[in-house]
Amino acid sequence: MSETSAPLPERWQQLAAYGGSPSSPHPIPVAQVLLDDEDIAAVVEVLRSGHLRAGRVCEAFEEAFAAQVGARYAISVSSGTAALHVAYAAVLAPGDEVLVPAFTFIATASMVSAVGARPVFCDVRPDTFTLDVEDARRRITPRTRAIAAVHLFGNPADVAAIQALAQEYGLTIIWDAAQAHGARYQGQDVGALDDLVCYSFYPTKNMTTGEGGMITTNDPELYTRCRRLRDHGQVDRYEHVCLGYNYRLTDVMAALGLRQLTRLPTWIARRRAHAQYLIRALQTLPGLHIQQEQPGGEHSYNLLTVALSPEHFTQDRDTFVALLRAENIGVGVHYPRPLHHQPLYRETYGSWQLPVAESLSRRVFSLPVHPGLSQEDLAAIVRGVRKVVEALHV
Ligand SMILES: Cc1ncc(COP(=O)(O)O)c(C=O)c1O
Repeated sequence: MSETSAPLPERWQQLAAYGGSPSSPHPIPVAQVLLDDEDIAAVVEVLRSGHLRAGRVCEAFEEAFAAQVGARYAISVSSGTAALHVAYAAVLAPGDEVLVPAFTFIATASMVSAVGARPVFCDVRPDTFTLDVEDARRRITPRTRAIAAVHLFGNPADVAAIQALAQEYGLTIIWDAAQAHGARYQGQDVGALDDLVCYSFYPTKNMTTGEGGMITTNDPELYTRCRRLRDHGQVDRYEHVCLGYNYRLTDVMAALGLRQLTRLPTWIARRRAHAQYLIRALQTLPGLHIQQEQPGGEHSYNLLTVALSPEHFTQDRDTFVALLRAENIGVGVHYPRPLHHQPLYRETYGSWQLPVAESLSRRVFSLPVHPGLSQEDLAAIVRGVRKVVEALHV
């Protein structure tokens, strides 16, 4: 989007980046924390009590979370990354291999490495953007111990196919549901799935505690192991039976989590309605390929993610995104690099060919669908995307 002395094409003159009026009169954030007075009062009450560490409020949050997703147990932790670290540590040994989609947030893979195991990167599907189970199957070796399946952007992974593969090879499944609070598969919340489900409560997620996370499971043995790992491998005061960490949440954060949890179903309904509105309006535009909802699944729309088909546009994704931002539309790029191309993993896996993950990382951008959007915001998002598509199409 460099300045040029040549006259601007007429269709560019409407763009806010080139002097047109922006599609939204105010910046629309890609994510927004929703806090009401009761949320704040609940946090203040804990502060006033002086009991700030993990205590009865964390326990109440765990019970309420488990009940809401339909799991037997929930373990609160200090972040989604901590949830993954604990879950992997509970089931993996050094040298184990774990099938991980290459198109996800770094922690899905890096916490595998943190326990001395090896992420084996797999490609994703071009329609749902989640794990390509047939590609994963081809990468199974005698060392494969687990599948890390991600419900990416809130879209449930291909749960039935992943479960079938796991059963065939005796693999444990760790679901990364960091972006998928409230997502469902065949009518059931994804938090009720076996073996371990990991959540994040980072502020951009469907519900937040600031930083924070949760693990759910139906397995009493895994529950016990995860609780120990969260708390220094401790089984009794100052009795440590295994290596562990301090990954406890605090009652201050749990008070917020409890409140946010009660509003989650309403928020998910709004996210889904916002996504459906945008999909209806945008799906007929040329060159936009919107993430498809998993058949049998209910996407919880942490983000609405779109891949550009480059043959339809004169400019690349980064220019497209810069022009949309100038329209006051908050846009994210998740993720600009597949994990096998990250400096952390490039040396080992850089020559691997994972064509869909590589292609998506060059083509995707994410639009806001959070519950804080107004009808005017949604209309402005549609206007902005249309304007940029019209300006850039070939
Ligand atoms: C897919 C995925 N996994 C794991 C995480 C890690 O969660 P946290 O940021 O709470 O550590 C995130 C959060 O960004 C995520 O999006």
